[in-house]
Amino acid sequence: MTLPDITYTLRTASPAKTRAEAVVVGIGQGAKDVEVPAGAEDVKAAYGRRWRGMLATLGVSGKAGEVTRLPAGNEIGAQLLVLVGLGKPGADGTYTSDAVRRAAGAAARAVPNATSVAVALPADTPDLVRAVAEGYVLGGYTYTAYKSSTAKSGGESNGPNDVAILSAIARRTDAVTAFEEAQILAQAVAGTREWVNVPPADLTPPAFADAITHVAGLVDGVEATVYDEEQLAELGCGGILAVGMGSAAAPRLVELTYSPDDARGHIALVGKGITFDSGGLTIKPGSSMSTMKSDMAGAAAVAQATFAIARLGLPVKVSAFVPMAENMVSGSSYRPGDVVTHYGGTTVEVSNMDAEGRMVLADALVRATEVSPDLIIDVATLTGHMVMALGDRVSGVLGSEDVVDRVLAAADVAGEQMWPMPIPEWMDERIRSSKVADLNQHDWIRWGGGLYAAAFLREFTGGLPWAHLDIAGPSFNSGGASGHLTPGGTGVAVATLVDYVREMATDQ
Ligand code: BES
Ligand code: ZN
Ligand code: MN
Repeated sequence: MTLPDITYTLRTASPAKTRAEAVVVGIGQGAKDVEVPAGAEDVKAAYGRRWRGMLATLGVSGKAGEVTRLPAGNEIGAQLLVLVGLGKPGADGTYTSDAVRRAAGAAARAVPNATSVAVALPADTPDLVRAVAEGYVLGGYTYTAYKSSTAKSGGESNGPNDVAILSAIARRTDAVTAFEEAQILAQAVAGTREWVNVPPADLTPPAFADAITHVAGLVDGVEATVYDEEQLAELGCGGILAVGMGSAAAPRLVELTYSPDDARGHIALVGKGITFDSGGLTIKPGSSMSTMKSDMAGAAAVAQATFAIARLGLPVKVSAFVPMAENMVSGSSYRPGDVVTHYGGTTVEVSNMDAEGRMVLADALVRATEVSPDLIIDVATLTGHMVMALGDRVSGVLGSEDVVDRVLAAADVAGEQMWPMPIPEWMDERIRSSKVADLNQHDWIRWGGGLYAAAFLREFTGGLPWAHLDIAGPSFNSGGASGHLTPGGTGVAVATLVDYVREMATDQ
């Protein structure tokens, strides 16, 4: 892939004396002047009275995302000094994990040719150590699988192979743990990005199922089961089959289990795995279709979150359900007026072939209820309505109040932006308005389609505590790199799911 081959270490070394080729130093927007946070002050001290004038000449302001590179003189050990903006500190003078993660991401892209880098960003708490490590690993992610040579991919070198994160608390066990766990999490996020970025012809449902089982085989304690189209027919997964019917590539359902002996709880995860969404017979305009290879981002996120939870050894049982289909146009596509019988027997009258996500999720949610989890979380690139409402950086969270609250708290820790949305009580009547089936898939009232979709999904959750994460906006970055975000798949929701489970592990 993807992630450059880097060995990370956590050290207490001085940034001024480090022998690394490049040293990264954070610059904040202090009350009066730019400031160097604790941990990198000796670099400033090494330049003495020249420091202020030098920064002024270079136009360094410390604003978030700003990167300034300068050849270092004899003042410090490194040859290259990279100054990365941290923005304004909080009222207590410290920088947030979010600001640090973002700065670390920008720093990772600023040193493509150094073979060793020392990173001196604020890292004097375990949370900040985690932010530096996550930000740096993810900011350096690039998708190169289809570049025929590095020359064509922009001529960058292999990148640094040694990155030392400098921290005053580097010898504390909680810092070392945060550092190691951050790398596991970042790899899961990068793995999610990678799957989202694969061209849809090469990530059909069978190929995606193979990719997931391949990784599952490498992670201790994770079991994978794949159901093919015949087994789905035997089970009666009518929703997955209906959506998959129009494609030359058959649908799949992948189920993963991680069941540690010391489990203190059981979470079921469900992820939408539409490997390409053309809209089916209710075909999308070309401009809306162009990024629809990302319609399996929820599936990728729940699979990778399961792997990360297992690799972290968290004492919580995880059952993941990943329905996969390609939503295409052909003589065998499902059509308006069809009635689909879902796994478990609920019938649904379909009218919009582009509301396919809820069709595959319904089967998988019922499967999830059968393992009797404490709660279910589904993750889906479900509606353009949520993108309209919240934009492309904020996910919507709907469902049971207690689970929604805990998701929002986990997102906060994870550094992901999520916002609660309601499921109005009168939606119940709308989803039941079909004259021929139990439920109506879609009702042609355009407004609030993201809320309707959640009300529909809730019918399949068996009354269990549940939350639905609509990640349609944040799952794919159509713009350029910014902080730890890179172009294409973002890996959103992985970090929140892992932090949710971390929190469950501390429950009594
Ligand atoms: N995959 C789309 C949702 C989507 C939109 C994801 C934009 C990412 C970016 C989903 O299957 C879809 O087409 N939803 C419809 C729902 C409608 C038919 C009720 C939509 O958004 O219009
Ligand atoms: Zn879709
Ligand atoms: Mn669709």
